[in-house]
Amino acid sequence: METPFIFGKIATEKNFTNREVETAHLVQNFKSLINTIIISPRRWGKSSLVNRAAKLAMEEDSKLRICHIDLFNVRNEQHFYSLLVQKVIAATSSKWEEAVYNAKNFFSHLVPKISIGTDPTNEVSIDFDWEEVKHNADEVLDLAEKIAKKKGLKIVICVDEFQNISEFTDPEYFQKKLRSHWQLHQNVAYCLYGSKRHMMMEVFTNSSKPFYKFGDLMFLNKIATPYLVEFFKSRFSDTGKSINEDASHLIVELVDNHPYYAQQLAQQAWLRTQNECTVEIVREAHTALVEQLSLLFVTITETLTTQQLNYLNALIAGEKAISSTEVMYRYQISSSTSISRSKAALIKNDILDETAGEISFQDPIYAYWLKTEYFAK
Ligand SMILES: Nc1ncnc2c1ncn2[C@@H]1O[C@H](COP(=O)(O)OP(=O)(O)OP(=O)(O)O)[C@@H](O)[C@H]1O
Ligand SMILES: [Mg+2]
Repeated sequence: METPFIFGKIATEKNFTNREVETAHLVQNFKSLINTIIISPRRWGKSSLVNRAAKLAMEEDSKLRICHIDLFNVRNEQHFYSLLVQKVIAATSSKWEEAVYNAKNFFSHLVPKISIGTDPTNEVSIDFDWEEVKHNADEVLDLAEKIAKKKGLKIVICVDEFQNISEFTDPEYFQKKLRSHWQLHQNVAYCLYGSKRHMMMEVFTNSSKPFYKFGDLMFLNKIATPYLVEFFKSRFSDTGKSINEDASHLIVELVDNHPYYAQQLAQQAWLRTQNECTVEIVREAHTALVEQLSLLFVTITETLTTQQLNYLNALIAGEKAISSTEVMYRYQISSSTSISRSKAALIKNDILDETAGEISFQDPIYAYWLKTEYFAK
């Protein structure tokens, strides 16, 4: 039997819950061509949300084309440009003949090298002489606008893991170039998101950076308890099992409403359930999940300095006034400078998250492991 929960993949259809307000907002932005930036910590559901909103928006507007670019392993401008061209052409051509035509006719200086795949989809791959692109980057950056105008289309370009452009050579210059073109586009909008929260914040909320105030900033929240509880119930019942109220709430509580872990823990509990899932089964599943992840947690912990660990220890213990002399002494924290240094490094490492001055752990299971295993010993 197929298991009713998924994690680590894009959540669609029955695997997708709630996010109604965010989805409606994003659909509206797509249809109105409003640039949007989505910021949230890792694995809270950015890609799933964008994917869903893109599908709905295209169903509602026949002139709209949305393409998705993932910068996950893109490390330089060249790679970025070739992906951009490829995706824009694919999203605006219905047949490969049209794709070839577009690739040939929408450039004036650049001469694309076109090859057509032999598989049944006949995907068209387009490449350029990199030296040429360097001098004619404008043509690549304005391609979508040109096609949209000519064909009477609206295009939205979604870029996942956008923060990776800060690793290109001379990122500031590159960002300036992007922004100066993109802000002139009338028929194209951009939806930019990524999972390194602190880097996204730096790119989009620092007033000295080119992308400052580029568009509508959306901060994604975790999924609220009632929706998750209903979601578990319906997925269990779809597969002929059930879960009681307390067990459902316990899953939410143990994963602190984290969407990815909610599905993972629910899955583990579901696998252990014959008929009805109970609190005992959830606890067992949780213990197994922590155990399963502990090796990874050991590896992460080994990369931390003693001062960082001492600071985490104080946080885990719920200390409010960490910079007080008494607390620093108790946790062997050397100085208040050490606290700010640890904090900055841990945020940069994606271990902690800071929202409106409030510090929290990005990974609720890691926090639990530190508390009950690592620091308890
Ligand atoms: N709306 C949702 N309903 C139910 N589960 C969800 C939802 N959104 C996300 N999830 C769960 O979280 C997981 C991660 O979602 P997704 O990949 O969309 O997040 P992300 O923020 O893009 O992650 P990353 O930071 O790794 O890019 C999904 O596989 C799914 O288990
Ligand atoms: Mg993602």
